[in-house]
Amino acid sequence: MYYSDELVEEVRERNDIVDVISGYVKLSKKGSSYFGLCPFHNEKSPSFSVSPGKQMYYCFGCGAGGNVFTFLMEYENYTFPEAMKALAERAGVALPEREYSQEERQQQDLRTRLLELNKLAAKYFYYQLRSERGGQAMAYLKGRQLSDETIKSFGLGFANKYSNDLYQYMKSQRVSDELLRESGLMNVDEKRGMYDKFWNRVIFPIMDVNSRVIGFGGRVMGDGKPKYLNSPETKIFDKSRNLYGLHVARTSRKKYILVCEGYMDVISLHQAGFKNAVASLGTALTTQHAALLKRYTNEVVLTYDSDEAGTRAALRAIPILKAAGLTAKVLHMQPYKDPDEFIKALGADKFQERIDGAENSFLFEISMLEREYDLRDPEGKTAFYNAVASRLVEFETEIERENYIEAVAAKYQVGFENLRKLVNRAAMKGMPAPKAEIRREKKAVEREEGIKKSQKLLLTWLIERPGLYGQIKGYISPEDFTEGLYYDAARLLFEQFETGNIVPAKIINHFTDTEKQKEAASLFNTSLRVETKAEMEKALRETLYRVRSHGIAQRRQKLAPTDMAGLQRSIAEERKLAEIKRLHISLE
Ligand code: GTP
Ligand code: MN
Repeated sequence: MYYSDELVEEVRERNDIVDVISGYVKLSKKGSSYFGLCPFHNEKSPSFSVSPGKQMYYCFGCGAGGNVFTFLMEYENYTFPEAMKALAERAGVALPEREYSQEERQQQDLRTRLLELNKLAAKYFYYQLRSERGGQAMAYLKGRQLSDETIKSFGLGFANKYSNDLYQYMKSQRVSDELLRESGLMNVDEKRGMYDKFWNRVIFPIMDVNSRVIGFGGRVMGDGKPKYLNSPETKIFDKSRNLYGLHVARTSRKKYILVCEGYMDVISLHQAGFKNAVASLGTALTTQHAALLKRYTNEVVLTYDSDEAGTRAALRAIPILKAAGLTAKVLHMQPYKDPDEFIKALGADKFQERIDGAENSFLFEISMLEREYDLRDPEGKTAFYNAVASRLVEFETEIERENYIEAVAAKYQVGFENLRKLVNRAAMKGMPAPKAEIRREKKAVEREEGIKKSQKLLLTWLIERPGLYGQIKGYISPEDFTEGLYYDAARLLFEQFETGNIVPAKIINHFTDTEKQKEAASLFNTSLRVETKAEMEKALRETLYRVRSHGIAQRRQKLAPTDMAGLQRSIAEERKLAEIKRLHISLE
């Protein structure tokens, strides 16, 4: 759905950020801003600020920030259109309905009807479980120590012994065969026609992140085969893009998400208070799963079964999680098989201890590698260390690499220096950068961080002291804000200064994903501790000088050698740059 800039801006304007955030966070006024405990990280003293002037929020603790849209997107995990809808509704702004093509409308219709059908089926199973016929199923669930509350909150149900009663029920509700066929709830064969896929099984409805039922899992009550039957993939059920339990886990506000193998593991964990547990739906973890997880967390603790298959699954999942930018750890369940058994045997506190002691994924990979070598044999041992060394080369920064060399050295009782030599030798053989180059890169990164900070400071000051723009505009231009996003933000801000209508929160609208919004918000919320006015003026002058000279140098570098006009412009800029040092800036 595309909304015009005007409409987006209207919705934003009509939702005062202090009002909206007050609905979620207790705020108290301090100076011109409001402060409260940050909802995006754990803290004891408030560093979360909401500025009515800027119509933005920013956390000085964790860097979360943005405008009223960003807030809902981050807090409620809404997409932009969802945030737009919620805020439009709140302010009573009517949103236009989008025009759908005929085909889109039909597909959308089908999806909607399938979701409704699933809801109906879930309700049917739910009542079956509570009816007289559901006695055995209820006893089975109770036998597995699930509480009434748990059974209810996961919407567990029962498909009874008759293999066509769901079908009959659906017919009584006037659901068409055609839709039933698309739903995955029915089997079709030539002799028998259409009949229920699930019968005599306990039913686990599978929900998407928005708590809509998209499919079902059915378990035999006892030892029959197959143990689980799952809905096939349908128009609304894609196993590689959904995780069981995520609709709850995403709101648990823990730092990490527990990823396990089975439905029962998730349910047991939630019942024990670990509401941040999810499971992939009987499939290996996919890159789409990892991307989905990354929307809600930065860290995953793998709580796969302790058997061979679980170990292999963990080894496969680690690189996928890392590629998505997630930190992975591996929890050790021994001597128990899975989280469900563990919790039953030792309880929640002990499980928490295992979480706290979860192994770094790299060290886990190394201990699995170890199993391939015979460490009692000197040759095997050497081969193992060499294999480890070539894995250690893969760390990009020196500091990270050294930390891991240290950890591995300690674990296997090898000398740190010896191992480091091996790693260096492995690095020479392979391609990665030699040390001097890494050091140079690190310096460059630091310098860049410094420049970024200066650019941010300058933008923040410009907003907070509107008189400033007129005094310095001859000495700086949006092009001096060299980062892609900084440039866009500066350009929009400078435009606002020229028109006299300064609304930084509007600039945030310009960026569509929350990561960018967050970064843009940080541009307008950077602070520097300075005491006196004279110090402030000095800091301003120096920052202005720094940003400008860096901008000039960058442009100069990109100049084609034959570009005489460009060179002249650059020389003129440099001459003007010198004036900044003598510039008097008034902060009145
Ligand atoms: P319990 O054995 O009841 O504790 O269930 P569990 O959730 O621990 O199952 P398990 O660890 O055996 O398997 C993990 C997941 O793999 C299950 O939750 C299912 O999603 C899937 N799965 C297990 N067995 C089967 C099967 O026979 N068929 C299919 N299609 N999937 C299965
Ligand atoms: Mn189990």
